[in-house]
Amino acid sequence: MGQRTQLILLLLFIPYFLMERTAGDDYNGLLSLMNDMKNTPPNWVGSDPCGNKWDGIVCTNSRVTTLQLLSMNLSGTLSGEIQLLSELQTLDLSYNSYLTGQLPPSIGSLKKLVNLNLIGCGFFGSIPDTIGNLQQLTTLSLTNNSFSGPIPASIGNLSKLYWLDLAVNQLDGPIPVSPGLDTLLQAKHFHLDNNKLSGEIPPQLFSSNMILLHLILNGNNLNGSIPDTLGNVQTLEVIRFDRNLLSGTLPSNLNNLVKVNELYLSNNKFIGPIPNLTGMSLTYVDLSNNSFAVSDIPPWVSTLQSLTTLVMENTQLQGTVPNSIFNLPNLQTLTLRNNKLNGTLNISTSYSNKLQLIDLQNNSIAEYVDTAGGYSKNLILVDNPVCNKLDATKSYCAVSQSNTPPYLTPPNSCVPAQCTSKQISSPNCKCAYPYSGTLVFRAPSFSDLENSSYYIALQSSLMQCFQNFSLPVDSVSLNNPIKDSTKNLELSLELFSSGQDRFNRTGISIIGSLLSGQTFKPPQGFGPYYFLADPYGYYAGISTESKKSLSIGVIIGAVAGGTILLLLLVLAGVYALRQKRRAERASEKLNPFAHWDPNNGSGGIPQLKGARSFSFEELKKYTNKFSEANSIGSGGYGKVYQGILPTGQLIAIKRAQTESMQGGVEFKTEIELLSRVHHKNLVSLVGFCFDQGEQMLVYEYVPNGTLKDGLSGKSGIRLDWIRRLKVALGAARGLAYLHELANPPIIHRDIKSTNILLDERLNAKVADFGLSKLMGDAEIGHVTTQVKGTMGYLDPEYYMTQQLTEKSDVYGFGVVMLELITARMPIERGKYIVRVVQTAMDKTKVLYNLHEILDPAIGLQTSLKGLEKFVDLAMRCVEESGANRPAMGMVVKEIENIMEQAGLNPNAESATTSESYDVNKENSHHPYSNEGFEYSGAYPTLKIEPH
Ligand SMILES: *[C@@H]1O[C@H](CO)[C@@H](O)[C@H](O)[C@H]1NC(C)=O
Ligand SMILES: *[C@@H]1O[C@H](CO)[C@@H](O)[C@H](O)[C@H]1NC(C)=O
Ligand SMILES: *[C@@H]1O[C@H](CO)[C@@H](O)[C@H](O)[C@H]1NC(C)=O
Ligand SMILES: *[C@@H]1O[C@H](CO)[C@@H](O)[C@H](O)[C@H]1NC(C)=O
Ligand SMILES: *[C@@H]1O[C@H](CO)[C@@H](O)[C@H](O)[C@H]1NC(C)=O
Repeated sequence: MGQRTQLILLLLFIPYFLMERTAGDDYNGLLSLMNDMKNTPPNWVGSDPCGNKWDGIVCTNSRVTTLQLLSMNLSGTLSGEIQLLSELQTLDLSYNSYLTGQLPPSIGSLKKLVNLNLIGCGFFGSIPDTIGNLQQLTTLSLTNNSFSGPIPASIGNLSKLYWLDLAVNQLDGPIPVSPGLDTLLQAKHFHLDNNKLSGEIPPQLFSSNMILLHLILNGNNLNGSIPDTLGNVQTLEVIRFDRNLLSGTLPSNLNNLVKVNELYLSNNKFIGPIPNLTGMSLTYVDLSNNSFAVSDIPPWVSTLQSLTTLVMENTQLQGTVPNSIFNLPNLQTLTLRNNKLNGTLNISTSYSNKLQLIDLQNNSIAEYVDTAGGYSKNLILVDNPVCNKLDATKSYCAVSQSNTPPYLTPPNSCVPAQCTSKQISSPNCKCAYPYSGTLVFRAPSFSDLENSSYYIALQSSLMQCFQNFSLPVDSVSLNNPIKDSTKNLELSLELFSSGQDRFNRTGISIIGSLLSGQTFKPPQGFGPYYFLADPYGYYAGISTESKKSLSIGVIIGAVAGGTILLLLLVLAGVYALRQKRRAERASEKLNPFAHWDPNNGSGGIPQLKGARSFSFEELKKYTNKFSEANSIGSGGYGKVYQGILPTGQLIAIKRAQTESMQGGVEFKTEIELLSRVHHKNLVSLVGFCFDQGEQMLVYEYVPNGTLKDGLSGKSGIRLDWIRRLKVALGAARGLAYLHELANPPIIHRDIKSTNILLDERLNAKVADFGLSKLMGDAEIGHVTTQVKGTMGYLDPEYYMTQQLTEKSDVYGFGVVMLELITARMPIERGKYIVRVVQTAMDKTKVLYNLHEILDPAIGLQTSLKGLEKFVDLAMRCVEESGANRPAMGMVVKEIENIMEQAGLNPNAESATTSESYDVNKENSHHPYSNEGFEYSGAYPTLKIEPH
């Protein structure tokens, strides 16, 4: 190797060495996050996140290892460039409910991640499989988002996982095993409650190697019986299976689970005898609403010395209530409503002084003996024979409203302060802006919510925790304990700062993370919890007024400074170049169009075909300053304006309101997609505006309004049968193009009569790709995503399975076809159009006997040739199962056949609104009549009209 070569190699490689573990990557990653999220901390300025001590960031050796931005009202999405933060160990963005979008699959590249907490955000879509690459992960908390789709089996690879909390989402499908959760041998917590999980609880899920403490599966759609392998998980303390569809008899070895304190089996379909559960250490048991065999109250119940709560509503109990049960020393609540308990109730001998409520409503108890003063707490015997007698006026024959006010932490021997604005007097009587939220306990061992000793214990253990971490918390207030509809205990929590009247961002993030990350352990009796914080909007501390993005100059300047430090002047060029590329990459993200020269259509950064970029000023001019007079509609996206280009072309401008704005990159992707879609039956994109913080899409203006308005008569167009066939054909062709010819294919997702527009010749043009979603290459056939769409047009199969396919559009199209013949809304006066047609239809009669429900404006006196075939086709489009529905290409062919058989030319141009339709005008030569080019080649069987 020549000396020269060596020198060059040296020059090339030294900078990479020096840069080796680049803080620059962290910086660029954070820039990308900032670009895609609003409300990042105002002190995120400068080019050195570690040195400049950006809020929410903790560094180790100049690398970002912790990113905690809790309760900051972040909005927008989580950039996939998070992957650049390659040393990250803790990522906690909890309690930012406006943080939405999908969790980027690149998150799987954060190989060092130990804690991933995204509680109470707005994430949706499926949990990426790549999550299984996070081999170091110990806590994964995605509680209370909108995640859908299955639990990725790859989670089974997380061999160090200790805390798995996916509760309160829309997850569906079975619990994955082998591969799946059965291999999580370090896990102590499976919290999967309040999702849509279905299928049986797999027997493989449980083994004696596990060390699981909490198994929380309530509020799902699980069915089948409880596998007896559950009896092998000897460590279990809490089991919640309530509110599922579980059936069968309970395995008798449940009794082996000697550590179980809390057992919830209510609201299932269990049958057979209630097994002996004396082996467990039960404190709280709820077996309500099952189909257990008729039985007496099992005698062993009276031996459960730790029992605080027994709830057995509607469980076929009969016989008398044994009075030994009232002697259980810890019993607080006994609820045995809606059974057939009879005989005499006798609690007068002696009863536990902790017993607060005996609810025996709706039984057959004939007599109540209350000698010796009787039971003085809350007894309810409403709807028992005993209340039909003279006793009817007794207090136990009414449901008494508890007068006890809900618990509220009292002032700490001081007089509460009178506070102004949103401040609140703390327990130490100082006015402050509290950090508040809800603590949700999933299985407390107690049920006496009026016993303040529990809350006092909780309060002091919270204070203790904050003190251990030297956090500026002056006091803690707890109030309003309630049992919510899922039987969780909810408590409002308010934390007050010491020193100042408010917390700063660092304070909130650290405090929040103690709760989101389960560092705080509640006292005995409260059991597993999660915390949902309210947004905190009163931050103290640095607030830089103008948060301007960094200019490339600043970055290069900083970099140049660093280079001089390296004293390698020769390398400065290489280094600066590399950095410049980085900076450019980052700035491209801030403005994806930065380097795009609109005058040079070729090779610019956005891959646009035929769409142009408009400045804000231009569009302002074309719409008369976005005047009200120019406003022609509004939707979820924002407002729509009509405008006119200097060329005279009419345009429709969709102007995104702030909330619906996407990140620059997403916006760019969307316009790239839209600009590639060209078909005469699709509303085409003329251009866009990404300027002055605005995002606007500029479409061709389609003058005759929506199909819905056309059918309702609102737009004054007469749509006879022939025109309706043409509209159906046009819309079908547009959709077929999206499904079969667009690359990548596009599922519209919101086909309805308001998304089909009519041009001056009543050609149908499918509009609003706002809900479109590209079909991932590998995923065709089962794009899983949050259910979107419009009631009445929504594919029931998609709704059930959340598996989106082209057939969901076919369903919507079928509904539109029925609308075309009936002019009824899909759901009108509570009746669903599909059922209405099905019910009215009689295939043996002419026009299938549908005269009654056909739209009179269709021209009933004229021949409705082909209507029966059209109805047949519509009904196939709305088949329950997508597999039975035709593809759009097939729908196109069949409508063409119907037209041909009716003597119409499917490729003839439509007449204008005013002209009458000329039925057999073959070879009609309209200037646009050859425009079907994008389409005709793709269907080999399509008849090309001879000219
Ligand atoms: C989940 O969070 C949302 C706000 O993000 C809140 O409205 C909702 O009540 C929460 N759900 C539960 C079960 O707490
Ligand atoms: C219930 O099981 C326990 C042991 O777990 C046993 O001692 C007891 O006798 C059983 N009770 C009944 C009524 O079967
Ligand atoms: C209570 O009900 C049981 C079972 O239906 C019956 O055998 C018993 O005679 C009843 N007892 C009284 C006192 O009515
Ligand atoms: C913010 O609060 C933290 C934690 O209490 C404290 O250490 C820090 O000095 C505060 N920062 C500012 C800028 O006030
Ligand atoms: C949080 O952000 C949303 C929208 O981004 C806004 O509507 C809301 O007012 C903000 N809340 C606070 C407390 O700043």
